[in-house]
Amino acid sequence: MATVHHKAHESRLFSGIFTPFPGLSPLSAMSDRRRILVTSALPYANGPIHLGHLVEYIQTDIWVRFQKSRGHDIHYVCADDAHGTAIMLKAQQNGVTPEAQIANVKADHERDFADFHIRFDNYHSTHSEENRELSAQIYLKNRDAGHIATRPIHQLFDPEKQMFLADRFIKGDCPKCGAKDQYGDSCEVCGATYSPTELKNPRSTISGATPVMKESEHYFFKLPDFAGFLQDRERSGRLQPEVANKLDEWFESGLNDWDISRDAPYFGFEIPDAPGKYFYVWVDAPIGYIASWRNLCEKTGRDWKEAWAADSRTELYHFIGKDIVYFHALFWPAMLEGAGYRKPNAIFAHGFLTVNGQKMSKSRGTFIKARSYLEQLNPEYLRYYFAAKLSGTVEDIDLSLEDFTARVNSDLVGKVVNIASRCAGFIARKFDNRLSAGCAETALVQEFILAGDSIAQHYENRDFGRAVREIMALADRANQYIDEKKPWALARLEGREQEVHEVCSVGLNLFRQLLVYLAPILPAMAEASREFLNMQSLDWASRQQLLLDHAINSFTPLMTRVEKEKVDAMVEASKEHLEATADAVPAAAVTAVAPEALAPEITIDDFVKIDMRVARIVNAVHVQGADKLLQLTLDIGEEKTRNVFAGIKSAYPEPEKLVGRLTIMVANLAPRKMKFGMSEGMVLAAGPGGADIFILSPDAGSTPGMKVK
Ligand code: 2FM
Ligand code: ZN
Repeated sequence: MATVHHKAHESRLFSGIFTPFPGLSPLSAMSDRRRILVTSALPYANGPIHLGHLVEYIQTDIWVRFQKSRGHDIHYVCADDAHGTAIMLKAQQNGVTPEAQIANVKADHERDFADFHIRFDNYHSTHSEENRELSAQIYLKNRDAGHIATRPIHQLFDPEKQMFLADRFIKGDCPKCGAKDQYGDSCEVCGATYSPTELKNPRSTISGATPVMKESEHYFFKLPDFAGFLQDRERSGRLQPEVANKLDEWFESGLNDWDISRDAPYFGFEIPDAPGKYFYVWVDAPIGYIASWRNLCEKTGRDWKEAWAADSRTELYHFIGKDIVYFHALFWPAMLEGAGYRKPNAIFAHGFLTVNGQKMSKSRGTFIKARSYLEQLNPEYLRYYFAAKLSGTVEDIDLSLEDFTARVNSDLVGKVVNIASRCAGFIARKFDNRLSAGCAETALVQEFILAGDSIAQHYENRDFGRAVREIMALADRANQYIDEKKPWALARLEGREQEVHEVCSVGLNLFRQLLVYLAPILPAMAEASREFLNMQSLDWASRQQLLLDHAINSFTPLMTRVEKEKVDAMVEASKEHLEATADAVPAAAVTAVAPEALAPEITIDDFVKIDMRVARIVNAVHVQGADKLLQLTLDIGEEKTRNVFAGIKSAYPEPEKLVGRLTIMVANLAPRKMKFGMSEGMVLAAGPGGADIFILSPDAGSTPGMKVK
């Protein structure tokens, strides 16, 4: 390739000289600047963020960072989805108020997101004053326009807990095949579907009580009022084709009224003029998008209403998983329409995550929490891998851990960082960290700059996989160029200094172009590269100026290789083991075999101090962050139930199966503060450990509280 020397350039910015290429003016006209508001689905405040969640937040964050890099006025808001029965029960299990429960989880969520470089402009909660007010207002507008109906419904009710039971809180024997312990809506054994009232021997999974039928007045949103409006929207082509097909199916089978009320006790907002009735969590969840935006605007002094007005000129996009399309493509636009608000420009649905080709699994260690990943690996590896796999469709994406390791190492470390490390040494040692004044390979650099237009198009379409492929093809080109020029060989020859200088300076200019393109995916590596290159910005438009006669900083490794051992350690730490160790068994467990030396002798007087009672297990759940423990709620006939942590998970991996059973507990053991909360007693079990631990079960005629003699 011919060597073309550029003249010195006029505009001296920062410590170097930058040259714009003709014909490629930066996106600067104010009229091109789009106003955009973006959301991701609001995660429930009852559990930790895992890699499945992260597909969406990483996808959205990359798109938002790309639009910011292009100079648009874009904001990304989100919040915790804080209401509903599951959260209320979780708080009860943890022995805290729902407010404390959601505050703790929100802090964890925010930390996980920040550590994955997910940069929200605002992260709020649906349990907020803004949301309370907006939910009431949107509801009232719909009600006053005639879109709300009320009628009584019959539903199973837990007489002990005094609450209505959703299907998933009822279990019993399958009415078709008789299989025990089946959920209220379908049988996992014979596949039958039914209504919970058909279950034989039904019981509440919350208290173990037998549910009774009870009537209650419910509030309905009249979705069929909006059928024509929704169909017109669908035809206007705003939706991904797969989503539009799904909608067609729903339109064909007909839209139904939507039950938007829940009876007390419920953690949520009371419906105006309906004491004791609460908005179903899915009513105020999407309104949380508006509330988070409003909360941000009130902090910054911006007018929040414009973005939500019917004639808004702000673009609005919701990134969601394909499982919640119904809510976002039907209920949500209908509610907004009924209340006179603007509708989203589009919803962007994505698929689910599989790991190693299978559903994420706790026993295989592939149900990986964000925090377990972060304890071992660099978040940018995952951002890159997801980006490489995302295509803007609803197809599921697979995280193959082997491919993940190989790909990150080969693309990011082997190709991209390699360009910089191959060139930086010469620039430091021979040229005092200053790039050459001339650009030897104008055509090559120009090719890299021009590629930015199609890469931008792929980003815009959320086809990040294609963007990544183009960027990696450029990285290959850059490495090829260095291979051909062989600066290491030139450096050994007399009088070729200038060439070495130019080749390495071109290499670093190419590297810089790549980092502009990768910055939305790899913000931390881009930031470190920006510092290394001693530049003010790696914005999309900045790429049009070359770095000539420009001082750079010393090179430091920008990314290290993925270590297989770390990946393995992450999987191992995520495994919920089926085998237990000795300390997993409660100290009071009666072992059938006695491999250990006997404990010191005790007298009958010591023994009678132990008060053993029959206890009903009214709830049994996994303990977040504990491999071996289950949290049991035990009823021994006292006014208050007892909270007990028992190391029996290895034998009872599905704790819900324990609900309703009787066991024996030591009731007068001093309460013990454990990492996860207070343990108020101990259950008795027998067995060698592992899968063979058997909680002692008195016969069915026993009653809770009965003393065991
Ligand atoms: O499916 C979920 O996890 C919900 N918490 C998503 C809510 S998105 C929005 F509508 F709030
Ligand atoms: Zn069955």
